Amino acid sequence: MDVIDNNPTSTPRAPATETDDAMKSRARVQFEKWAGSYDRSLFHHFIFRSSYVALMEEIAKWYAVHQRPFRVLDVGCGTGELAAMLAKSDWPVEAVGMDYVPAMCIAASAKISEGGLGTRARFVAGDSEFLPFADASFDIITCSNSFHHYPHQQAAVHDVRRLLKPEGRYVLIDGFRDNVIGWFVFDVMVSHFEDGVYHAPWSEIDGYFRNAGFTNIHRRKINLWSPLCVTIGDVAAQSTS
Ligand SMILES: C[S@@+](CC[C@H](N)C(=O)[O-])C[C@H]1O[C@@H](n2cnc3c(N)ncnc32)[C@H](O)[C@@H]1O
Repeated sequence: MDVIDNNPTSTPRAPATETDDAMKSRARVQFEKWAGSYDRSLFHHFIFRSSYVALMEEIAKWYAVHQRPFRVLDVGCGTGELAAMLAKSDWPVEAVGMDYVPAMCIAASAKISEGGLGTRARFVAGDSEFLPFADASFDIITCSNSFHHYPHQQAAVHDVRRLLKPEGRYVLIDGFRDNVIGWFVFDVMVSHFEDGVYHAPWSEIDGYFRNAGFTNIHRRKINLWSPLCVTIGDVAAQSTS
């Protein structure tokens, strides 16, 4: 696992407040504890797994059009399940997973080494709000079930845009809290257990994407009982960040 310092060229933002720091420390404590058993949890089987399937579907759609070797960054990668699926695929892909919690990156690295897939995926510990990578260095960036932990969501989307190449794609999955089931699951239940998290309405996420300069923004909903919103945005062919 690599540990990279925050990139000083990432999108500028207001200094972190105590509330922001508290939100991040809660996430760190929660996921440090969970890293060892995450893959065996019911959440993983019944909620998160469908996210990886949806991410793979969106990546397949991108590859069907572009047909060239590509790099994927999975932000808030957890135990590296998506990176492992990519590494096992037939696509000419290099996967990088990034997570705030080193224990998650360690679990992810172990999964990849045990599967003998070490050359196709690697993991970096870092903060989604200060992505430690060069401008225009990825073709696809994904993020699933992690975004509600970020104190500055618009800044995080801007930083993703900075990292994407022309014709790149961002696929973001998080709780859909705009119907009654979603409101109950995310605004009531999840917010009770994960104190201080924020599941943005789809219209707000749409705004984040538009403000960051994404085009062809569209979305779909998956999972009936724990609804998730998959939002997709593209970078124009001649675009500079
Ligand atoms: C529920 S898990 C989701 C993992 C995986 N993407 C999935 O769908 O199963 C949320 C992950 O987001 C990570 N996370 C929380 N805040 C983060 C931040 N500011 N930067 C990067 N990762 C963060 C957590 O450490 C955790 O691994």
